[in-house]
Amino acid sequence: MAKDHVQIFDTTLRDGEQVPGCKLNTEQKLIIAERLDVLGVDIIEAGFPVSSPGDFKSVEAIAKLVKNATVCGLTRSVENDIKVAAEALKYAKRPRIHTGIGTSDSHIQFKFNSNRDAIIERAVAAVKYAKGFVEDVEFYAEDAGRTDNEYLARVCEAVIKAGATVLNIPDTTGYCLPDEYGAKIKYLKENVAGIDKATLSCHCHNDLGLATANSIAGAINGARQIECTINGIGERAGNTSLEEVVMILKQHPNLNLDTGVNTKLLYSTSQMVQEHMGMFVQANKAVVGSNAFAHSSGIHQDGVIKNRETYEIMDPEDVGVTESAIVLTARSGRAALAYRAKNVGYELTKLELDALYPKFLEYADSKKEVVDEDIHIIMEQNNIKVN
Ligand code: KIV
Ligand code: ZN
Repeated sequence: MAKDHVQIFDTTLRDGEQVPGCKLNTEQKLIIAERLDVLGVDIIEAGFPVSSPGDFKSVEAIAKLVKNATVCGLTRSVENDIKVAAEALKYAKRPRIHTGIGTSDSHIQFKFNSNRDAIIERAVAAVKYAKGFVEDVEFYAEDAGRTDNEYLARVCEAVIKAGATVLNIPDTTGYCLPDEYGAKIKYLKENVAGIDKATLSCHCHNDLGLATANSIAGAINGARQIECTINGIGERAGNTSLEEVVMILKQHPNLNLDTGVNTKLLYSTSQMVQEHMGMFVQANKAVVGSNAFAHSSGIHQDGVIKNRETYEIMDPEDVGVTESAIVLTARSGRAALAYRAKNVGYELTKLELDALYPKFLEYADSKKEVVDEDIHIIMEQNNIKVN
């Protein structure tokens, strides 16, 4: 059975770039946008054009450059924002305007000092105005995660009637639990008239570490677009991580969902974004962290050397990492020592290995990690020659 396609909407250059200290210049944004296009994302959110002349210039340059993906610009439900975004996107092969407004009671009361009906009117007016510039209009119901489902369904119905092609349901504050977020998407699928004319989109933040789980719950319940960033960068604790959702869908074929992302480019893309943004991921980051395919305890190393699948559920080559790493530490066993020694030219006999192992442990106890250079030193100290 053919899999359903989940569109990958990358917002590294918009929500990701909002992070303090992560400023990119136009040239860097172009390099990343070109890479995202080659990576195979469906939509690139290039920026928030009205926010600054620099952002306008970047969105315009990205719109001219990108060959395959839809290029999207963010706006508030404000006519001038929409007009400026349309102008910035005018060279895009496939332009999209992403407009929206806060729909939770907290946003309606404190941000807008307004009421539910008036917010729907503003949402509808924004979508209709955007439709005057482009066919592809995405509407975001900001703080949808904390918006009452019945009211959210009314908002969605109204903006679909006004012409919205995509409905973004952001868990802006990263509050929802996966069951709750999945149920919200299901509720909208079942209760919004005209929902079949639009694509539901997940946009989850990671305040409680649930962004990826929530996005997957959304897709399981019928969302067909996931908004995410490379390395999960974004406001506060970040956004859903692109590499995580892509690999979850790949590693779980029973979900029957796929993406158009070339997974072999995930690691190098992650590295590229880290370097340009100066924001480095933690070693234990899923999929792209430096320890994601590294094994350091003796029991695990022994298993992986016998068969990689004993402790790895992904082939590192699938994400562009050349091989699993067997890290030598004082927790490593004989199998790991023999394996790493062999990699640098020493084929140890069982006798040699047994004699060497206690000396290796002594050496390893004084270091965090035993690297190739240390292996040569240990061998030299014990009169073992390359063979
Ligand atoms: O998190 C959010 O709600 C957003 C919207 C502006 C789409 O980033
Ligand atoms: Zn966001």
